[in-house]
Order: sequence, then C-alpha cells, then structure tokens
Amino acid sequence: MDTLQRRFPEEIKAAVARYPAGRQASAVISLLYLAQAAYGQLDKDAIDEVASVLEMDPTQVRGVAGFYSLFFERPHGGYVVQYCNDLPCALRGAEDFLPVLEEKLGCKAGETSADGLFTLECVMCLAACDRAPMMQVNLEYFHDLDAATLDGLLAELRARAAEDPPRRAPFGFGPPSEMAGAAPATGANPAGSGPTGQGG
Ligand code: FES
Repeated sequence: MDTLQRRFPEEIKAAVARYPAGRQASAVISLLYLAQAAYGQLDKDAIDEVASVLEMDPTQVRGVAGFYSLFFERPHGGYVVQYCNDLPCALRGAEDFLPVLEEKLGCKAGETSADGLFTLECVMCLAACDRAPMMQVNLEYFHDLDAATLDGLLAELRARAAEDPPRRAPFGFGPPSEMAGAAPATGANPAGSGPTGQGG
C-alpha cells in the first residue's frame, strides 16, 4: 500500500508543494498520474494510496480519475489508441476504416494487442472532424489515415517502443519529466464512458 510513495517520494512532495498548506487535494491529478505509473493502473490500491497521501476520501479520488480518459483502472498497452468513430468522422469513412485499424493493431476496439503494445478504444469527438479518419495515440494526433500512412505510423511507433520499452506508465513510456512541475494534460472522458468505466 505504499507503492506510490516508495517509487515517487520526491515527485509527490513537489506536486503537493505547488499548493497552499491544507490544499494538498489540489495535487490529485498529478498524484493520479504518478500512481498510474507506479501501479500500472488505477486499481483500488492505487486509488486508496492517493487518497491516503492527500487525506481525501477514496470515492472523491475515484470520481476524479473516472472523469478523465487518460486514467485507467485496468492494465493498458504502452500506446493507447483512441480512435474517433463519432458521427462526423463516421461520415468521412471512420467506420469503414476501423476494421483496417483493428487488423493492423492486432486487437479489436476495447482490447489490448497480444504484445501489450496497443490498447484500442473508440471515442467520441476529438475535435479534428475535418481530418478523419483520425486518432490520438497517447498524446499525439494523427489525421487523414489510410492503410499506407497507418503502416508507416505503426512501424514508427514500434521502433520507438523498441528503443524505450513500455512501462505501463501514464502515457505508456514513463512519467513525463515535468509531471511534478506542471499540470499534466488530461482528456475528459467522452460521453462519460471512459476507459475507467467511471464516467463523470
Ligand atoms: S467527430 Fe471525430 S474528431 Fe470530431
């Protein structure tokens, strides 16, 4: 129950120090990223430790985690592929392209590839409707996808992974170095049905 504190003691201190005394709960998102890196996912132990460190109720912490699409209560691949198949993208071919994406990733939507590298999720609008088919991979956007561009992209991602193996960290490849010093990016769960299943 101290996995987070053993792995990131200095990062926790720095995150909490950004806020006035007694307002440590404001560091909850930073600590959730750290906990996800430490535990591999935001399971009950991870949530409970964040709550304990920040003197919060675990339900509150789970509520925050459930609102954002980059927090996961289950293990996920090094690359989380969020593919938009919302209506505007569907009208531009996103539905037809989904089977191609699934085949090249080696997993269906909602699943993780056998090599643990990719988790594929279908999400609602990512605000790039005019460039569909499009997807967000961890924090990067990729537009105007077709089979050929996807082949090149996946080759690049696999090459990156070979150099820096996934560690089931916040974005798949280790906690961002600026984590303790800057508010990390988050993505609100589309339609309240994000991967944690805690949609808010
Ligand atoms: S509907 Fe897909 S990005 Fe907007």
